[in-house]
Amino acid sequence: MAKILVTGGLGYIGSHTVVALQEAGFKVVIVDNLSNASIKVLDGILAITGKLPEFENFDLRDKHKTQQFLKKHEDISGVIHFAASKAVGESVENPLLYYENNVNTLIYLLQELNKKDNANFIFSSSCTVYGQADVMPITEEAPIKQAESPYGNTKQIGEAIIKDTCKANKNVNAIALRYFNPIGAHKSSKIGELPIGVPQNLVPYITQTGAGIREQLSVFGDDYPTTDGTCVRDYIHVVDLANAHLVALQRLLDKENQNNFEVFNLGTGTGSSVLEVIKSFERVSNKNLNYKIVERREGDIVSAFADTKKANSVLGWKAKSTLDDAMDSAWKWQQTL
Ligand code: UFG
Repeated sequence: MAKILVTGGLGYIGSHTVVALQEAGFKVVIVDNLSNASIKVLDGILAITGKLPEFENFDLRDKHKTQQFLKKHEDISGVIHFAASKAVGESVENPLLYYENNVNTLIYLLQELNKKDNANFIFSSSCTVYGQADVMPITEEAPIKQAESPYGNTKQIGEAIIKDTCKANKNVNAIALRYFNPIGAHKSSKIGELPIGVPQNLVPYITQTGAGIREQLSVFGDDYPTTDGTCVRDYIHVVDLANAHLVALQRLLDKENQNNFEVFNLGTGTGSSVLEVIKSFERVSNKNLNYKIVERREGDIVSAFADTKKANSVLGWKAKSTLDDAMDSAWKWQQTL
């Protein structure tokens, strides 16, 4: 069976994708520097799939090691590149770390893949590339707006680097997947999101508040022009997202791609407000959540949800889980921590 390199494979989306790949019969080799992941995630992957993926702990910013690694693993049929820094606020404080982590590593990987007769590459992109889109739902044709953070900029630059590489070398085939808001955990509760410190994202903050780790959730603003005044996002179950990677990879391996650089939105197509997410949590947990409305958070966009037609029809993939399914899995995972 084909061997796939998953960079950042011990991270949140990476680990769920490794599970999906192994369950589909792929051999997986993970590269992760454990900067934002735990080695214990390997135990979770083993418990779910019965297979321990190959794992190498090194930093992809080390160009020489990256070269050596790819020479040693010449038989790799595809690369799914998750390894990156992802905290918007941190990227504003430490932009050079973000450019180095997210851009240099991408270049080093592509430089090696560029030498192959046939390279298949899946890139973790983000709906952040659209900024506050003018039209909802957001299609892949929506304009790429000026990035609001260095993190967002690394995703825009990353896509541009891949696009140019694919244009110059038809042996490189790539798909950029623009994620909306991933939430939830594997149904086994053996892997899930592991935020370090105080969570910045809504769902881990909600589940930690439900578990008594945080006292109260702050809802950032209720005076936005939305149905209930709180911001709207497209929350997608991480297992649905992981499965989309499998489908995208198979498309490249089967040479079904229409272009050697393609882009797809990965969302559910449904927007949910912050208050709707809270209500969903309260339904699945049978708890009342302690929350208060506070000032808006700087940099938040009002609304973002995906037009999923392209992913549905071209990729043949559709998110299956509801918001309640995802919140239920997030809550079950939280209770194991
Ligand atoms: N929110 C709260 N309270 C919190 C945390 C979040 O009310 O404690 C609200 C936010 O204001 C926002 C919504 O919940 O309206 C979602 O916030 P998240 O931080 O969970 O997600 P974002 O949509 O802000 O950010 C996500 C990814 C980023 C990515 C961005 C692109 O986490 O990596 O989408 O738009 F850059």
